[in-house]
Amino acid sequence: MSANKESWGSRVGLILAMAGNAVGLGNFLRFPVQAVQNGGGAFIIPYLICFLVMGIPLLWIEWSMGRFGGKYGHHSTPFIVDTMGKSRLWKYIGVFGIWTNIAVASYYCYLESWTLSYVFHSVVGTFSDLDQEGVSNFFNTYVSLGKSTFGIPYEPIVFFVGCLLLNTWILSKGLASGVERVAKIGMPLLIFFGIFLAFKGVTIEAGENGASFDSAVGLNFLWTPNFEELWSPTVWLAAAGQIFFTLSVGMGTVQCYASYVRSRDDIALNAMSAGWMNEFVEVVLGGAILIPISIGYLGVDRVTELVQSGGLGLGFRTLPYLFYQWGDFLGALAGFMWFGLLFFAGITSSLAMGTPWIGFLQDEFGWRRKSAAWSFGVIVLVLGMPTVLFFKYGVFDEYDYWAGTVSLVVFALCESILFAWVFGMGNGWREITSGADINVPGFYRFIIKFITPLLLIWVFLGSLFTPLNNDWGKAFAGNWVLDNGSIIKKIMNSGLKEQLAAATDPAQIEMLQDTMFFVNASRILLLGVWLTLALLVYIAYKKRVREGRI
Ligand code: ALA
Repeated sequence: MSANKESWGSRVGLILAMAGNAVGLGNFLRFPVQAVQNGGGAFIIPYLICFLVMGIPLLWIEWSMGRFGGKYGHHSTPFIVDTMGKSRLWKYIGVFGIWTNIAVASYYCYLESWTLSYVFHSVVGTFSDLDQEGVSNFFNTYVSLGKSTFGIPYEPIVFFVGCLLLNTWILSKGLASGVERVAKIGMPLLIFFGIFLAFKGVTIEAGENGASFDSAVGLNFLWTPNFEELWSPTVWLAAAGQIFFTLSVGMGTVQCYASYVRSRDDIALNAMSAGWMNEFVEVVLGGAILIPISIGYLGVDRVTELVQSGGLGLGFRTLPYLFYQWGDFLGALAGFMWFGLLFFAGITSSLAMGTPWIGFLQDEFGWRRKSAAWSFGVIVLVLGMPTVLFFKYGVFDEYDYWAGTVSLVVFALCESILFAWVFGMGNGWREITSGADINVPGFYRFIIKFITPLLLIWVFLGSLFTPLNNDWGKAFAGNWVLDNGSIIKKIMNSGLKEQLAAATDPAQIEMLQDTMFFVNASRILLLGVWLTLALLVYIAYKKRVREGRI
């Protein structure tokens, strides 16, 4: 049995930590951008349906897997799934539940460090004298490690290392005194900042402070349903992807946090509380800041154009400038609140990403929490540095694609099959409902057994074989040519190869060749990490056999 005897300090702390795990940068940056890219009102219905038939079931599955594993002293997915499955191979599927967190944390903490830096720049007034181009250039200079406005040498690296030190230090304090305490401070502050900014967002009036439109334009864009687009699988795939990312399902963090819940405690209501809190923050607050403010000033067409060139643009390149239309004081305050909110959203998620690795080392190799936490910091530093140094060559995006997108679907699919079909729906349902403080609707038994795995299979196949230009009509009519965004074409680097073949400018050719190199190197690095973790799981398994623990 594991010597890891930690537990949550209070129920409220657990729910806030779990909600903090889910509420992240995705709620405020990714959700609005996905909504804009997928036609606003066309996105929201598939999104909410995916929440009900994939998000909620996966939350229940993961919470109950975690509490079940915790009974046997397992706090990370390899041995949680090993206890539930009959084949020895399941523990290697469980490797995804550690790997994804390490890989996502490596770029996520870099993103989180930007928010810290932007809080600092909002406070010292860096953006107050800049025009929109100036704010945008500030961002470009920042990510290309150019000369810091404030004279801090290698500013992005300084903030990245600072952010990692902070994460590691909190993680080393333990669950109740570290993670839970941060969630109890961070979540209320985040919601308070969010409500303030959302209020400003939805009360924008055309003609005031330079706004061209009033907030109704942005809100209508998001909330007027577009039923025609409901048949577009692309929109459904985007909605499903957002649900995974925002709820942090398919990652291994929920199982890990839930493994510290006592065996007789409720999970059904806890899961719903954390899940719905995330949805409130994402849909109500996340939908009322970035979209109404930027559309209020720039209009739907310009904003749609801006998000095509990268999702992070609006939040970092545009908002700091738009805030200053409200005057110097409110501009600085709104910047501080916006980036402060993003920082709290980010850190409560990145702390969750550290816990599976820490739990694994404690359970399997008897490490103390402190050393395990610092080892996480070192790994993320080493793996994250390429995203800082080679950002412009797409390393960041590559990590996000494989770890933050594809891997979530793969692991969620495997665990839903494991739960409903291998562990068995009878056992599974007993786990979900035991100790439950709510009546779990009986029809979810059917949804978890059939609908969720089928939808996950569909999402996976749809991403693997995405047709050219997302033209599903043509594809189903028999002309199925793969799009460069499909997983298969991504593996083959088809998009980059096409760009390279068409390029004539030597500088562009060199840039594309370098990008190809860094993209391939990132994949090899990520694969190497996965294989190393699988080896550690194998060693841990042998150790368990030797010690008679299996
Ligand atoms: N769930 C986290 C987010 O939304 C990862 O950012």
